[in-house]
Amino acid sequence: MTARMATRSTKSPLQSIIADRAAQKPLQEQVFDQVREAILSGQLSPGTRLPATRILASDLNVSRNTILGAFERLHAEGYIEGRAGSGTRVSNILPEELLQTRNRLQVPIENTAPAGKLSRLSQVSISSNQQNRHRPGPERAFRPGLPDLSLFPFQLWGQLVAKSWRNPPTEMLLAGEMAGYLPLRQSISNYLGAVRGLHCTPAQVLITSGAQQALDLIARVIIDPGDKVWLEDPGYQGLRSTLQAAGAKIIDIPVDEDGICVDQGRKKAPDAVLAAITPSHQYPLGVTMSLTRRLEILDWAKTANAWILEDDYDSEFRYAGKPHLALQGLDQSQRVIYVGTFSKVLFPALRLGYVVVPTPLLASFTAVRTSIDDYPALALQPALHRFIADGHFASHIRKLRKLYEKRQQTMINALQLYAAGRLIAAPAQAGMHLVVRLDPSCGLNDEQISNQAEKAKLIVPALSSFYNGKHSSQGLVLGYAGLSEQEINLGVKRLARLLE
Ligand SMILES: Cc1ncc(COP(=O)(O)O)c(C=O)c1O
Repeated sequence: MTARMATRSTKSPLQSIIADRAAQKPLQEQVFDQVREAILSGQLSPGTRLPATRILASDLNVSRNTILGAFERLHAEGYIEGRAGSGTRVSNILPEELLQTRNRLQVPIENTAPAGKLSRLSQVSISSNQQNRHRPGPERAFRPGLPDLSLFPFQLWGQLVAKSWRNPPTEMLLAGEMAGYLPLRQSISNYLGAVRGLHCTPAQVLITSGAQQALDLIARVIIDPGDKVWLEDPGYQGLRSTLQAAGAKIIDIPVDEDGICVDQGRKKAPDAVLAAITPSHQYPLGVTMSLTRRLEILDWAKTANAWILEDDYDSEFRYAGKPHLALQGLDQSQRVIYVGTFSKVLFPALRLGYVVVPTPLLASFTAVRTSIDDYPALALQPALHRFIADGHFASHIRKLRKLYEKRQQTMINALQLYAAGRLIAAPAQAGMHLVVRLDPSCGLNDEQISNQAEKAKLIVPALSSFYNGKHSSQGLVLGYAGLSEQEINLGVKRLARLLE
């Protein structure tokens, strides 16, 4: 029979204790275990007064000796202080042994607690918690920026990784180079010079953990709290949060069909220290910055003594029109800090990217980088160097380009077939996603569609969510690069059903 505390009128901190006469464990031991558990789990905090043994015995319907015996043992082991009769409390100073036991116990961590409730968190941490509320799940359709994985030569990649680690020279193992593995920086510098029209030397290339770390590094080197920064509106939220974390005062600058509106930047914040842009393929709208605008922004940076962050995140995928070379190649005043990534061509979990730094800033970048992680992890850099130097990188890009162009067409056909009258899709000359406009006559709202789609396990970011200024546009940002034709067709059908 289980004797619960039937008549516990007092607000006893031991309300949950039970004495089970049917159990094999002696009653005294049951009481000891449960009080100890309550102390270790924090249910009974240090200093809490325990009920008198007489009352507890009566509540549990056990003899007083049973409770006295349990309390004696709790006392002997340091869990409680004071003597029966004169008031017993949970020990204020827990013995070392007790703390170790507490660590071993799996006390559930309330990881969903709103950050604002936790004490002593920085504002950056609180706002990051709020921004990262929706972590991406395993769903792929239509998450923007995901590459195709079916064509990646994993066998060859595995061989390159194995080969680079078979007989590594000792000096390579003891201390990495601050800027990254030199042969990789050489092959990146050759690739950027030949394909993207950059003017750079391997000494200017710093290897980072993806483009995101490069953005963070730039913010640390350039920005003091309160400094003004031009940011494209709409734009990449990952960059916005990094700049905010550095204390930047963000000035939202609209984007039109020629790219960021430099004249508006000049009007709103001529004294900004940095302009962060995606000139080759504006994120997310997809426009390419015109030559006139490129010259305008370079001129502003020179006269304002400001820097330009050029994020060239998916420049490899251009399907039509002339290839647009990087802004960095046009810059004669060493004002452009160029960022690239292997996440889009290879795969995001590789976490390898780079920043090409103007020579006058090199010493500052290296010094700040040292305070973050000394130097980048060596593990995959030698394999990536061989992958590029032996021509596999270029041939992989060529294959992907053909595939993505086809997938984009499949997406447009599917949208026309299943969602005509609600979604308007036009071919894009570059990239891995389409910006699909909502037909104004259908009266739908992009945030609502995005929320509905999330419930149906489709990732469909609302175009309006990329905007931060006064004006925004309605639409959906749909990635297609990482999806098979079948997945695209099925996904669009499901999305169209949601819109009905
Ligand atoms: C515009 C843009 N810049 C930078 C990044 C960061 O890329 P990485 O995965 O190399 O950190 C992304 C990632 O999606 C992006 O979309």
